[in-house]
Order: sequence, then structure tokens, then C-alpha cells
Amino acid sequence: MVKSGMKNHEKSLVFYAQVIPGAEDIAVGEIEQVLGGEIRKIAKGVVVFRLDGPDPDVLELKTTEDVFLYAWGTDALSFRAKDLEDIQKWTSQQPDWKHLLAVHQQIREIPKGRPSFHVVTQMDGKHGYFRKDAQKYFLRGLEKVIPSTWRQVEENASAEFWLTIDGATAICGLRLSDRRMRHREYKRAHRPASLRPSLAAGMVRLAELKPYHRVLDPMCGVGTLLAEYQNYAEQWRVPRPPAIGGDLEMNAVRDAQANLRGLGANHWFNWDATHLPLNGESIHRVICNPPFGKQISPGVNLPLFYSALVAEFYRVLLPQGKMVLLVSDHETLRGACEKEHFHFEKKIKTKVLGQTAFISVWKKR
Ligand SMILES: C[S@@+](CC[C@H](N)C(=O)[O-])C[C@H]1O[C@@H](n2cnc3c(N)ncnc32)[C@H](O)[C@@H]1O
Repeated sequence: MVKSGMKNHEKSLVFYAQVIPGAEDIAVGEIEQVLGGEIRKIAKGVVVFRLDGPDPDVLELKTTEDVFLYAWGTDALSFRAKDLEDIQKWTSQQPDWKHLLAVHQQIREIPKGRPSFHVVTQMDGKHGYFRKDAQKYFLRGLEKVIPSTWRQVEENASAEFWLTIDGATAICGLRLSDRRMRHREYKRAHRPASLRPSLAAGMVRLAELKPYHRVLDPMCGVGTLLAEYQNYAEQWRVPRPPAIGGDLEMNAVRDAQANLRGLGANHWFNWDATHLPLNGESIHRVICNPPFGKQISPGVNLPLFYSALVAEFYRVLLPQGKMVLLVSDHETLRGACEKEHFHFEKKIKTKVLGQTAFISVWKKR
């Protein structure tokens, strides 16, 4: 993050989005396509972008976890205590907070009642100070900015001031999104292995979908991928084939049905994904998050299981059809895909529940 040259003015506003590490490029694609944003900077888990004005559609982004109005940023933290004075100084002197708070009010619903604020400091990496020290100096910087009548609260604040430190990089801003961006309102039923919606939305974007595509998630869990597919497909405003979802566990199928009630047309099945009751060459896209090695029953051999799955996906896919898969053991999946002569297109390294995982895209020759 370069401090100079990125300022928020009347006509041009700088924002940043926090994304799941690895999904930065997918978020870039969405920001450019949906908002016409100009990308200014990509760092681990962060995309900085510029828009022509206070566009409320920033809150409609699907591949991001949170969106902020940019206040200041740096790539040059020293890891020493000197950073703390800088954090205080940059916070109090650099941004035009009055302008930022006015734009914040234009974009975000503000809770009624006496104004309040909440301060969040995130810190990753080894620094010569603690997160609570960074928070203290951040707050000192803010004291000169926030009107004295505002209360500091833990929840439901009128304004949230965030500072995120990752190694030598720090970025500070006013949060525009709330929990609905990362949690989604459709998700009433949860299961431990259920996907983060923003990552599911990213997988949907990687599938390069067309309105006529028949889309299948054969191991749907609570249906996150198909819910994100349906949200994505809304933009087309033309009829589309029902999406198809299924799971070995009937309870998962019920949860997926409940979560997707009112979200597009879907057909649900309680099935074994290695023996799908679907015609050969009938599906355009498989988007799926098979169980990771740790999640499968003891006694199931992962290479054999993935081979059986991939062979079945190959059978049901149309020629040139694609699959987007998320697994932790990419090498085992790659072995299975190469056996079926799938053409490898792309791999993205990310994290799922703290574990390294890979999204890969494959095309049927
Ligand atoms: C990692 S979870 C999928 C999570 C899902 N993407 C979500 O967001 O909820 C894997 C799912 O595969 C299902 N599963 C495991 N073996 C299966 C099989 N042979 N056929 C179909 N589903 C299976 C599990 O019941 C589980 O719901």
C-alpha cells in the first residue's frame, strides 16, 4: 500500500475489500465487472480499488468478505515500536475523515440514536509490539477525529474504524459492509464443513457460466455453491435450467432445500456421487467441494474415492464441459483427473477452516 497517491476526494473514492487469501484475482474480476472499479493495489487478502463515486453496489459484492472506505495504508511498517507513533500520526493526520464519514453515511444504513463507534485492530506477523498496543495508538489517532459526543460500543456502531496489519503492510478504513456480506441471509442451516459463501461465489465465477448451462453440485452439503450460483445467475434475467444438487446424507439435502427456498429452481437428490442417476453428457458444469481427506469415513481410500468421483463427473459432463473443484489434497485429485484425460486449466491456493486447500478448474476434452 503506497501512502501517497491514494486519497479520497469528492469525485474519486478509494475503497478496499478483504477477501479470503488466494481469492484476490477472483474479487478483482468481480469488482471490475460489477462496479467498473479501477484496481489500485492487490495484497494478500486485500484488493484496493477506485470508483467514480459513492456507489452503494459495493455492498452487493459476493466474492469479498468485507468492504471499506480507504483511509490510509502502508507497505513499510518497520516491525519496531516506531510504527505505533506512525499509526497514531497517519490516523489523525492523513485521511479526510469528515469526507469519509459523509460518504459512509451515503452508502450504509446507520443505526438510529446517539452516534457510536467501534474500533477493530487485526494483526498478523511478528512485530515488536502487541495488537493491543497497535489498537491503543490507533485509538489515540482517532480521538482527535471522532466527535467527543460519540460513544464507543462493541456492537451496532454507527461507524467502525478498522486497522489491519499483516507483516509490513497496514491498511486502515471505515467499514461499509456488515455481517450480511460474509454470512448471507439465505444461510439458515449450517454444517461444520459448509463453505464460506464468498469462496463459493468465487468458484461460481471460475466456472464461466452461461444462462443455458445445466449446473450440478453432486455433494452439495447445505447448498452454498448452488445458492451462490443462483445469486450469480439472477443477473441474466432470462429463464435458465434448474440447478441440480445432491448429497449422500438426507439431512444435508434437507438443509440445502431449506437454504435455497426461494432462490431459483433446483432439483434435489439423495444419492451417491460416484453413481449419479443422470444421463451421460447431460451437464455443462460441475461445481463441487468433495470431502477433504480428514472428512471421509475411516476405511475409505482417498485416491480410489476421488478416482470414482472424477470418472462419474467425466461421464455426465458434456464435451468441453468444465468442473470447478475444491479439495485439500490437490495431488490426489490431479492423479484422478489426469487418468480421465481432463485438461487442467487453473489452480488457486486458498485456506478453508485454517487448512490449505486448492480450487482447480478442469475441462473435458
Ligand atoms: C465438504 S462437504 C460439502 C459442503 C458444501 N459445499 C456446503 O457448503 O455445505 C462434502 C459433502 O459431501 C457429502 N458426501 C460425502 N460422500 C458422498 C458421496 N459418496 N456422495 C454424495 N455426497 C457425499 C457429505 O455428506 C458432505 O455434505
